[in-house]
Amino acid sequence: MSTSAPSHNQLDTKAEAWSALFSEPMSDLVKRYTSSVFFDKRMWQADIQGSLAHAEMLSAQKIIGTDDFASIQKGMAQITSEIEAGSFEWKLDLEDVHLNIEARLTALVGDAGKRLHTGRSRNDQVATDVRLWLRGEIDLIEGLLKELQLSLVEVAAKNVDVILPGFTHLQVAQPVSFGHHMLAYVEMFKRDAERMLDVRKRVNVLPLGSAALAGTTYPLDRERVAKTLGMVNDQGEACVSQNSLDGVSDRDFAIEFTAAASLCMVHVSRLSEELIIWMSQNFGFIKIADRFTTGSSIMPQKKNPDVPELARGKTGRVVGHLMGLITLMKGQPLAYNKDNQEDKEPLFDTVDTLKDTLRIFAEMIGGQLNPATGTKEGGITVNAENMRAAALKGYATATDLADYLVKKGLPFRDAHETVAHAVKLATMKGVDLTELPLAELQAFNPNIEADVFEALSLEGSLNARNTLGGTAPAQVRIQLAKHQARLA
Ligand code: ARG
Repeated sequence: MSTSAPSHNQLDTKAEAWSALFSEPMSDLVKRYTSSVFFDKRMWQADIQGSLAHAEMLSAQKIIGTDDFASIQKGMAQITSEIEAGSFEWKLDLEDVHLNIEARLTALVGDAGKRLHTGRSRNDQVATDVRLWLRGEIDLIEGLLKELQLSLVEVAAKNVDVILPGFTHLQVAQPVSFGHHMLAYVEMFKRDAERMLDVRKRVNVLPLGSAALAGTTYPLDRERVAKTLGMVNDQGEACVSQNSLDGVSDRDFAIEFTAAASLCMVHVSRLSEELIIWMSQNFGFIKIADRFTTGSSIMPQKKNPDVPELARGKTGRVVGHLMGLITLMKGQPLAYNKDNQEDKEPLFDTVDTLKDTLRIFAEMIGGQLNPATGTKEGGITVNAENMRAAALKGYATATDLADYLVKKGLPFRDAHETVAHAVKLATMKGVDLTELPLAELQAFNPNIEADVFEALSLEGSLNARNTLGGTAPAQVRIQLAKHQARLA
């Protein structure tokens, strides 16, 4: 049992943060187990921002004096500079970022600091902090998603007429434009950006004012706080949680965000897999700059695509965080439970992993801006000859022969069968369809004429797919222009 008299001026330890009710201090192990300060301190700016908005409202509502608000502002300014300077002393004893900052405020400004927590609980405070922090991160992620899309668009623009085999089941299917292939990823990351913006709407809602769980007896103006914090919808109306029990316990927004992040990482992972395949000696379609690869300690010839491989691996980590967060929520009764403290590390790591990955991919694909020349350098290098050679293998234009016959009046199913026989013959002879003499092709169908060779060429095949969303260079250029205008 502690014999020293409790300090009434400042909160030095957590036992004192609670009340005189506690008859013994926490054990060191329990302190370590329950404290979150060493990871939640990264929300310090959100915590101060939320506290200032709350204090401003308390003073406007005459719940605290204007002098108290002024002192709180002054104290928070001091704390901000201490944290920025690295001189702020974070105490494990004070459990989390909220108690650490409040204790320091009281040490600095006395009673005004003690009035800050009027009509507030750490339950609505922490929910507010996580939302404010995450909102800022989503805005950064939006910017990074845009950069990545721009990189892909730039590579696409340079490679509209470069042809590679398109695959289904990883078997050569039909030739496609490399620009078209890049723009498929642009579509994915565009949807990711839209999803993030949609999640942001539900992140940007104010729980403060829910207090511990039931609301508060003070005449709070919650909408005022929401407006101060920019928690408003497109019409400028305050977004405030409508049920105090839900307000303090809802973490859907964190789960949704992590789901959106997981899907985005899945897209990165798919792209990674393609880059890895394309870089392998058997494909030789692309190269990535050396700074994104590593060598082997034993095999001197090796250049390994570590960055895409790691990104593919980190996708598992982010999906794991989604599983962690959603399981964290399962079975929690209303309202706040300490379980929710476990939301932070997975959420923080999801944000860090996603941001780093997007940044590195934007640079690996599009290159780095050289300020001297004003152009980007060191992005992926495309080997158009190897792509073309691969597209010429595997009868990638067999469908074009079938389509050619359909245009000559054959029903598609019959054309499909006829071409199968032609492919069989070509395979036996070890040649491409275009290498079969016209007479041999005509043996399959007398309507085949010399113009068939144009239809069977890679360019002919691409140009023929001139419908919206198709791989014809004319269509790819239309899509490119749309993306360029959207991202400008
Ligand atoms: N550190 C806690 C968290 O992250 C803050 C809220 C604590 N509330 C409570 N009633 N113990 O969730």
